[in-house]
Amino acid sequence: MAFRNRRFEKRSRKRNRRRSGDRRSTTLFSTPSVASRAKNGVLYGLGALAVLFLFLFLFFNVFGGGANVKLKSDLKAEIGSHIVASSFVEEIKEGHISKDQAVDTSSLGKKTCRITVQSGEKEKDYEFTVTIVDTQEPVIGVGDELFVAKGMGVDIAKQSMISDNSGETPETTVSGTWDVNAVGDYSVKISATDSSGNKTKKDITLKVVDPTEASTYSFVTDKGFVADRKDGITQIDGIIVVNRSVSLPSSFAPGIQEEARTAFYEMAEAADKEEISLWIINDFRSWEEQDEIYKDYYSTYGADADTMSARPGHSEHQSGFALDLNSFSTDFGGTKEGKWIAEHAWEYGFIMRYPEGKENLTGYKAEPWHVRYVGKDLAKVLYNNGDWITLEEHFGIDSSYKN
Ligand code: DAL
Ligand code: ZN
Repeated sequence: MAFRNRRFEKRSRKRNRRRSGDRRSTTLFSTPSVASRAKNGVLYGLGALAVLFLFLFLFFNVFGGGANVKLKSDLKAEIGSHIVASSFVEEIKEGHISKDQAVDTSSLGKKTCRITVQSGEKEKDYEFTVTIVDTQEPVIGVGDELFVAKGMGVDIAKQSMISDNSGETPETTVSGTWDVNAVGDYSVKISATDSSGNKTKKDITLKVVDPTEASTYSFVTDKGFVADRKDGITQIDGIIVVNRSVSLPSSFAPGIQEEARTAFYEMAEAADKEEISLWIINDFRSWEEQDEIYKDYYSTYGADADTMSARPGHSEHQSGFALDLNSFSTDFGGTKEGKWIAEHAWEYGFIMRYPEGKENLTGYKAEPWHVRYVGKDLAKVLYNNGDWITLEEHFGIDSSYKN
């Protein structure tokens, strides 16, 4: 008890000291009381702020940018995927999403996404960040076998149809040994890695085949088309292709193809209305006929014959889809008939097969009289507003003899 009393006395003395001090002040009693309250007020204020911050912290973390919207924990999307911002919302506490938007998945990295939530009459926008990632491996599209005609160039990386969901060209390595001049099977390893480090591997057989045989195989062209060779007849995208590199067998003798004949008469009729007369001077030629023609050219022009006449097996006339019109004169292109053909033949499904300036691609000097039926869709593409694209460019093939 004595101890307590002493403490009590101490406090009383303190209080008295304060009071005696107070007497010197003009604001008796009030000043010490305000100071004390202010101190407590600051403390309370700080406490309240802390609570508020804690609340806001929880608020934003739990609901990802707004109390009303709870986001999923994994805010990642695959590059090139089709995904909308709302896919990342786990829960809307009140209201519904009134505006959504596609997430920009075209490139890697952080992307801002927005949604609008409507609750009653009120609309509120919410923003959050999604990271675009690439977790998928590149695809090596080639089958287990890749065909190449003997003597032709081969670019395995290009012809393996490698792609990645990111749209980038993956880094590709090709290993193995092969000889494009020797018919045979060769083991090749292909590996493709994208910039995110995803990797794919494939073991294939490179098959070097003899294209002059009436053989059956398929290969992928430089432009990614699949060329199907069946019993010596090569088709790319439904078109029979014949050039210096791609032959037809001597047994192939269809005569003029019905579609080419019908299209020609349709074209001739339209030309006639514009007082242009068109007629066929040559259509289907057999292997034997082509052999004779080529020998004729050879006897006159020697090696230059190859720029004017196809060797037997290599003439488009053997396909039945090629027509020579009106005149074999090199001046024919300058006549009104020649000009009309160059300007309108595509409307009927024909292409100028050997245009000016493309000799190095087709292998032949310009032939303004030679048209080839390919159908209206492809003819329009190859017409290219008058700047002709050759079949070789379009399909990604070459035209050259191997010997
Ligand atoms: N004059 C064309 C190229 C042919 O002989 O088929
Ligand atoms: Zn011709």
